[in-house]
Amino acid sequence: MSKRSTAVLRVRNLRSHYGDVEVLHGVDATFSGGKITVVAGRSGCGKTTLLRNILRLINPTSGTIELFGRDISELDEDELITLRPRIGVLFQNGALLQSLTVGANIAVPLEQHTRLPADVIERIVLRKLELVELVGVERLMPSELSGGMRKRAALARTLALDPEIAFFDEPSAGLDPVTAASLDQLIVGLNRKLGITVIVVTHELNSIRRIADRMLFLDDGEAVFEGTLEEAETCEIESVRQFFIQGSSSHSDVAESVQAPA
Ligand SMILES: Nc1ncnc2c1ncn2[C@@H]1O[C@H](COP(=O)(O)OP(=O)(O)OP(=O)(O)O)[C@@H](O)[C@H]1O
Ligand SMILES: [Mg+2]
Repeated sequence: MSKRSTAVLRVRNLRSHYGDVEVLHGVDATFSGGKITVVAGRSGCGKTTLLRNILRLINPTSGTIELFGRDISELDEDELITLRPRIGVLFQNGALLQSLTVGANIAVPLEQHTRLPADVIERIVLRKLELVELVGVERLMPSELSGGMRKRAALARTLALDPEIAFFDEPSAGLDPVTAASLDQLIVGLNRKLGITVIVVTHELNSIRRIADRMLFLDDGEAVFEGTLEEAETCEIESVRQFFIQGSSSHSDVAESVQAPA
């Protein structure tokens, strides 16, 4: 088999409504296997809605979504259940269950989707915590962790079932820049080491530059750009250009490097 990346996810002419309001106006997008694709665009442009459609949390008004070569609208209940463990999701504001320990939180998907005995689940939980560089916290309650640690623990839960594709909706929202950067590093590591196809929603330019292989840019419910990060940075489409200009000007490192004497 060639290592060439092929599309694992294809969205075609996707329209989506909330009530009478159309939020996605015929989105086309292709997500390459084994890559990190960032979905960016202004607040309210429909990024989370796109994810909700892909994850079948809401049904599109029209259009198709092909995941792993199958049109997901044609899958029956059993097929969906078998597909579920292949997909990891970290929702925007995706919180851990406050009443469970960190370890028990990570065990939830394993208990729901497998019949593994408790001691095996326990070992997997520890391995996933190790993977996100959180060791020795399995017996703590989520409230005893810092914000960055909670994000890592949520990431461990997303990875519990060894997904082939993972969706992270604004994973570094609310984190300080250093913690956000280390979370980005972790996401890149998961992709490079485990080969997981990653789709990250974020509007943080620093983060995009650290992690993105490819980018999908949404503007008011339309996919206006799709391509590599390099192509995005030199793209002439006005909304994409503005996004990079405004993101850069609010970033002091870039401003400093621009002002530095030659
Ligand atoms: N459950 C809902 N019911 C009605 N309208 C909604 C719902 N969720 C989102 N919307 C609207 O749909 C549009 C797209 O929202 P969405 O959450 O997809 O945007 P987003 O790009 O993820 O924004 P953000 O960057 O702020 O998370 C917005 O106008 C929003 O107000
Ligand atoms: Mg959102």
